[in-house]
Amino acid sequence: MDHAETPRAPLVASGAPRYDGLSMALHWLTLGLLIVLFGAIWARERASDGDAALALLTIHRSAGALVWAVTLARLAWKVRGGRTPALPSSTPRMQRWAARANEYALYLLLAVQPVTGFVQSVARGKPFPLLGLSVPAVMARDKDLSHLFHAVHEASATVLLILVGLHACAALFHGLVLRDGVLGTMLPAGRRPLRK
Ligand code: HEM
Ligand code: HEM
Repeated sequence: MDHAETPRAPLVASGAPRYDGLSMALHWLTLGLLIVLFGAIWARERASDGDAALALLTIHRSAGALVWAVTLARLAWKVRGGRTPALPSSTPRMQRWAARANEYALYLLLAVQPVTGFVQSVARGKPFPLLGLSVPAVMARDKDLSHLFHAVHEASATVLLILVGLHACAALFHGLVLRDGVLGTMLPAGRRPLRK
């Protein structure tokens, strides 16, 4: 009997369809921005002085505003010509449906989350810095509104984290265990030829 190991499928199958470069760049940029904005909140909760806490909130808000812009750009590009490779035919229908439903829920949360953060900030009734600009106070402080939006912002951030966790685990499972090429669709091709 031949005990020689069958070679493992490569992570990025040569010539397999992938997302286009812009879609990939915006996908990984979103991950980077989320790390920054969750990191800023984490550090803010532990900051000992007020100035540092304020600076961290500004970083959080600005990274969140960029997530919003990047998400709108991603959706516009997806509709206007970005490439979306199909999942492999070996993927069960239910899983395919779950993956796409999760991804659309992620898009929705990425578009709505910054808005609830923005409204929460505006309802505090004070000007605040955002992306190097100053957002003026456009209303008097409304404690109830700001508390309501804080609660929504916090709850939807938790849902976002759970969905990102499921999504990333599923993608890594495809890439490292099933090795069916799904992870490779979101990774740069390197020197390998790219087929549409
Ligand atoms: C994808 C984008 C965003 C995510 C995932 C996110 C997530 C979070 C999280 C997890 C918290 C902590 C909630 C808590 O436990 O109190 C938070 C707080 C907050 N966020 Fe965001 N956020 C985003 C965008 C924004 C934006 C764009 C703004 C404003 C322009 C904003 C303003 C705030 C404010 C004011 C707080 C309360 C911070 C405090 O008072 O300590 N967020 N956000
Ligand atoms: C370690 C982290 C991550 C990994 C390994 C990963 C991997 C992948 C892979 C392989 C795909 C293509 C799969 C498919 O066609 O269904 C994909 C698509 C996608 N990912 Fe991620 N991802 C990660 C983080 C994130 C984060 C943080 C977000 C946003 C919150 C995100 C949102 C999306 C969306 C919306 C799509 C669908 C793209 C489209 O078809 O329009 N991913 N991801």
